[in-house]
Amino acid sequence: MRYIGNKTKLLRFIASYLDDLDLHGGRALDAFAGTTAVARLLKARGFAVDTCDIMSLSYVFQRAYVVADEYPRFRGLAEDSDLRAAKLTPEFRSHVESRFGGQGDLFGGIANLQPLEETLVYLDSYLEPRSSFIDVNFAASESPAEGQRMYFSRRNAQQIDAIRHKLQDWRAADLVTDDEFFILLAALLEAADSVANTAGVYAAFVKAWQSNAVKPLRLSVPDLVVGTGLSCVAHRGDVVDLVGDLGHLDLLYLDPPYNTRQYSAYYHVPELIAEGWFGAKLPTLRGKTGLIKDSHKKSQWSTRAGCGPALEQLLEAVDATHVLLSYNNEGIIPEREIDRCFRHYGVASTYRRVGKEYKRYRADRDSEARQYSGDHVTEYLYYVRLR
Ligand SMILES: C[S@@+](CC[C@H](N)C(=O)[O-])C[C@H]1O[C@@H](n2cnc3c(N)ncnc32)[C@H](O)[C@@H]1O
Repeated sequence: MRYIGNKTKLLRFIASYLDDLDLHGGRALDAFAGTTAVARLLKARGFAVDTCDIMSLSYVFQRAYVVADEYPRFRGLAEDSDLRAAKLTPEFRSHVESRFGGQGDLFGGIANLQPLEETLVYLDSYLEPRSSFIDVNFAASESPAEGQRMYFSRRNAQQIDAIRHKLQDWRAADLVTDDEFFILLAALLEAADSVANTAGVYAAFVKAWQSNAVKPLRLSVPDLVVGTGLSCVAHRGDVVDLVGDLGHLDLLYLDPPYNTRQYSAYYHVPELIAEGWFGAKLPTLRGKTGLIKDSHKKSQWSTRAGCGPALEQLLEAVDATHVLLSYNNEGIIPEREIDRCFRHYGVASTYRRVGKEYKRYRADRDSEARQYSGDHVTEYLYYVRLR
């Protein structure tokens, strides 16, 4: 998913630094997991990973991409008569093959992808579209009426609604396991983001239909790290509240927000899809973009006054051997504050920092270009061994 601060493009840099530090295996915490790009890397390197984030969308990714350790088999879905009937139609198998190339088995048979491929095709191509919360509040017609929020085409919004309801129903009826539910929900979040009519964040929609937004929503098979046998745990909430209860960690990886934009306001639409709208009361939306009340998700790491003290609180509370922090040269925690904290809580002789120039994330450039000097930022990795 397009996500500010996503480290996918920096994984080689992070991996080679972990090599230099000779860090493989043990227990790690990815404290600001976001899309889980780094947590997945850590799991692939043999770490049992705990993950944490304040956003529910991240919790979905954590469960799907880090906690789940095998591709779903969907044994319970044999009970779903509509799915069974769709699978019996003559064109269903060729539909699945034309979408996924009939890969079937991955890694010499360790992962059988067929049940997942079939379920994804059923959800995005055989399930009847349905008008529910996303269609009513975040969709617009081809020629939008005044006041319509142009985040999704009507057709895609209705498919998102239908899939989200179906996942809820399957879970309530115990037809899918927790891992299976979160893998499908993660696939929905990724697919919805790829057809969202935004420049990358949901703080605004684009006022004309972009080419990605008029394509039909299609679910993809995620690339999971499977068969490790590692015990990984996902957490939702403020990491400062969590860290004291976690016990000893070999590695604490930190990738906090680096500016004053609150993630909850920039990703409120996928956040709603992640959380659903199935409580007693529908979520109340406000304003042009349909924001939700989310004061519990405001992060002190995204405030100039709060970010330095938050770093200090976290290092004070954690029991870890190694700390690695990703941050860039435009971040709001002053460099001297990071320096002071790392020297204070760590063994000063082990403290170091490496940097790499990096092309700016597109949505950053679009919205805040005037504040920035150019198209590149320097991404740093700060390391210290704690005392
Ligand atoms: C720079 S992003 C992390 C990106 C992630 N490493 C990736 O590759 O996708 C920062 C993340 O910190 C989360 N966050 C902000 N305040 C937090 C807090 N107090 N506790 C836990 N997570 C927090 C945000 O929701 C956001 O997902």
